[in-house]
Amino acid sequence: MAASAHIAPNAWIFAYGSLIWRADFPFEAREPGFISDFGRRFWQGSTDHRGVPEAPGRVVTLVDAPGESCWGVAYCISAAQAPIVMAQLDFREKGGYQRRAVPVMLASGIEVEGLVYHATKENPNYLGPARPAEIASQISTARGPSGTNREYLFNLESALNAIRQPDDHVSEIANALRSLEQDR
Ligand code: SIN
Repeated sequence: MAASAHIAPNAWIFAYGSLIWRADFPFEAREPGFISDFGRRFWQGSTDHRGVPEAPGRVVTLVDAPGESCWGVAYCISAAQAPIVMAQLDFREKGGYQRRAVPVMLASGIEVEGLVYHATKENPNYLGPARPAEIASQISTARGPSGTNREYLFNLESALNAIRQPDDHVSEIANALRSLEQDR
């Protein structure tokens, strides 16, 4: 009897933060999409990318938000590349994020199972909610090995505008930072 060949499926990664505009890995396809019942918030501290341990920056994570949709971009990674890409991303997202599987609705109407990097409240870098002006003020001065925190915020805002899915929370923080910078 011939042995049946096992063909590994392609993997999908759902990006909602820096992975939207800084995809430093090979992919077969990129398509906007959303995940349901999650919201994107600047509630995660960054001590290794957009801040340092003495002065953490703020980056996005996902929070439970029944009824909300979090838009981002889904990347299709070939089965052959997936183990290498996942190892690279596990390293890049090591500051508190864990991989989890989520259903992703692609803009083309197809649902796929995606992997998302999620920083939960339990991780040591989690900062939690704060007033928009406080978040903007922290972002205005933070910088880390990947660059300034303000660049992260404005790149995220532009990337969401580019897929025509502006996010109220991101826009609120970006507007708060713009007014802070105007007043200086
Ligand atoms: C993501 O981009 O999907 C994860 C969070 C981040 O690195 O900003």
